[in-house]
Amino acid sequence: MNVMHLASPKAAATETAARPLLIDGKFVPALSGRTFASHNPATGRLVAHVCEGDAEDIDLAVAAARKAFEGPWSRFTPFERQACILRFSELVDQNFEELAMTDVLDMGVPITVSRSRRQRVLGLLRFYAGACTAIRGATTPDSLPGEMFTYTLKEPVGVVGAITPWNGPVVHTMWKIGPVLATGCTMVLKPAEDAPLTAIRLGELLLEAGVPPGVVNVVPGFGHTAGAALAAHGDVDKISFTGSESVGRKIIDASQGNMKRLTLELGGKSPDVVFADCDFKAAVQGAAMGVFANSGQSCTAGTRLLVERSIFGEFVDAVSDFAKTLKVGDGLDPDTQIGPLINRKQLDRVTGYIDLGEREGARTVSGGRRLTEGAYGDGFFVEPTVLAGVTNDMKVARDEIFGPVVCAIPFDTFEEATTIANATSFGLGSGVWTQSLATAHRMAKAIRAGTVWVNTYGGLDPAVPFGGYKTSGIGRECGLEQMEEYLETKAVIMKFA
Ligand code: NAI
Ligand code: MG
Repeated sequence: MNVMHLASPKAAATETAARPLLIDGKFVPALSGRTFASHNPATGRLVAHVCEGDAEDIDLAVAAARKAFEGPWSRFTPFERQACILRFSELVDQNFEELAMTDVLDMGVPITVSRSRRQRVLGLLRFYAGACTAIRGATTPDSLPGEMFTYTLKEPVGVVGAITPWNGPVVHTMWKIGPVLATGCTMVLKPAEDAPLTAIRLGELLLEAGVPPGVVNVVPGFGHTAGAALAAHGDVDKISFTGSESVGRKIIDASQGNMKRLTLELGGKSPDVVFADCDFKAAVQGAAMGVFANSGQSCTAGTRLLVERSIFGEFVDAVSDFAKTLKVGDGLDPDTQIGPLINRKQLDRVTGYIDLGEREGARTVSGGRRLTEGAYGDGFFVEPTVLAGVTNDMKVARDEIFGPVVCAIPFDTFEEATTIANATSFGLGSGVWTQSLATAHRMAKAIRAGTVWVNTYGGLDPAVPFGGYKTSGIGRECGLEQMEEYLETKAVIMKFA
């Protein structure tokens, strides 16, 4: 595909011909004049040059966001904001094929998967449009002396800095834009350097939808420069971050200066617990795709496969057989089910963990190799990999690998399954496969994680809160819970006599 097809007319028409920053409604180059390149991880080919924002661009973007927050945007009624979201949603629908293709080229997701996200993304936007007009305070019983009337007002938290990862650009960006528009905040969005193109295009569609200049600013750039400047900025009221645990900790440190509000959606090492009474075939496919989808590059991936011992061997073999049928390849090929890893660093990390697992005593039942034959050699492809003989204390069972690697661990009793499931510093996703209602309910209560999927894995609903326990994060995205993360509560205490 011609690179220019990805460029929107306005966004491409800058002097640098690199994809620009969006600040205060204008497409501009970075003040430094620097650019960086985004490559297709399936082929190694250049997708686009992108202007490289840094601290001084972040300053301009934050100033624009502040001005917009205090300006006309603050007078938009919830219904007017809702109308903006609905117009934006129409434009996203009209341009979805281009957005889906951009994600394929920028980060390697298979086109069939990327296209299939249309309804999910539109559903998200409809949810946020509805949430706009559902925000409300409360009147509260008063106990102060005199004739009093007390109530609460919900007010937007202010200027939000959003920092996104590369593993699902179109969806992650909506999760950040949606609550900002719904609550009346403004934002500076720093997309991941590995997949920045979708965010820039969405910024353009927001302007087209009538969202005033400065409400959403987009500053692509690197984490340790632009990202760090945003996280530490004294005039940013809140950071919403999705990414690694280690950067999450840096964001917490950087937030101290002005005590920012934080939403952190970090990693996971999610247990997927299979009981012997499960629907075997459904569980095999569900557990396999629960980890191999998106090449294992998802925060909720069910990477610890806990299987009741009586079916352990048979189940692990079936998952391995299923894994071998998955077609790994370039996301542009409509037959591809599993795309490449995002970059060389992730490739080395994932293959390094497979080697480490073997050194720790795990046995590779299937997969385990980087694919290098023919065209594979140009990209970062790793076979879906099943490791057995894993114990929960091995590093492969403790660390987030973020690749198509599953660790199979047997258990004997419900109690043992629960203990192993919870023996992790993370608490993001989890799965249970059983036909017993009692086992399902007990497990759903026993697992310390933000989401428990029962007889299914990985589906997310815009109305259902999503987020992590323990070091998987702080706060929730989606659901009305997410709105609270972008709102301040003001108490008004009034004496009227
Ligand atoms: P990362 O956490 O470094 O990158 C995520 C975002 O944070 C990017 O936009 C990046 O530019 C930004 N960032 C990096 N350093 C920053 C800093 N000091 N201040 C502010 N922003 C900063 O993740 P990376 O390097 O892409 O992947 C490494 C590992 O992180 C993966 O192997 C995986 O374990 C985890 N990860 C988890 C994700 C999730 O969905 N929870 C998404 C992406 C990565
Ligand atoms: Mg890229």
